[in-house]
Amino acid sequence: MKGVILAGGLGSRLSPLTKVTNKHLLPIYNKPMIYYPLEALIKAGIRDILIVTGGNSAGDFLKLLGNGKEFGLKHLNYTYQHGEGGIAEALSLAEFLCDNDKLCVILGDNIIEKNIIKAVKDFETQPRGAKIMVKEVPDPERFGVPIFKGKRIVKIQEKPKRPKSPYAVTGIYMYDSTVFDIIRTLKPSGRGELEITDVNNAYIKRGEMTWEGLEGWWTDAGTFESLLLANQLVAKTGANNL
Ligand code: G1P
Repeated sequence: MKGVILAGGLGSRLSPLTKVTNKHLLPIYNKPMIYYPLEALIKAGIRDILIVTGGNSAGDFLKLLGNGKEFGLKHLNYTYQHGEGGIAEALSLAEFLCDNDKLCVILGDNIIEKNIIKAVKDFETQPRGAKIMVKEVPDPERFGVPIFKGKRIVKIQEKPKRPKSPYAVTGIYMYDSTVFDIIRTLKPSGRGELEITDVNNAYIKRGEMTWEGLEGWWTDAGTFESLLLANQLVAKTGANNL
């Protein structure tokens, strides 16, 4: 399985912290934010990793991570997303690396307490389709929210005003290589972006989406509140623990 870290965007919700640098280079406790998704993939056994960056300070990722030697990697792949076309558009830049392989995608500002190796192994044996990780949260209206029928997810709503479940779709997604065909069919949403939720709904429609609950804490770090929370959680327990 290949790994993709989506670390583009302008991080405008964190301005002025992101006026001159990239959100994913900001500190979370004792490391730059990008370290956490990178370590999450490596600890799940994924070694062929692409970082999709964009916006400010893209060159600093190379300076910081190089070829990933410090993380025990032989090589790291990089690419650049122009503009703010959304998460699914950023993911489309991974097609050159995919080679019919499956992908584990993680948003660069998602930080987790526990290792995701079990879900990754489960997806390796899944014949086709996609898998998402969900987590119960106090503020689901900030996220993609799954609608359940029994144990089945029948639809995901992006940032609904009245969430139909208390769960968030976390920024950890697993896809087969047909994801790129799906992205080619997408139209920009109201906010002018290709939405990852539309990708996930396409897999749900095909009946090829599975899901697992995420163990341990999970947070994004794209707002001042969640950035502070991420720092506090990592200081307390560390991240990506076995
Ligand atoms: C994005 C996705 C959303 C998901 C969230 C996880 O939201 O669109 O479905 O729940 O990441 O962090 P955004 O960070 O763009 O607001």
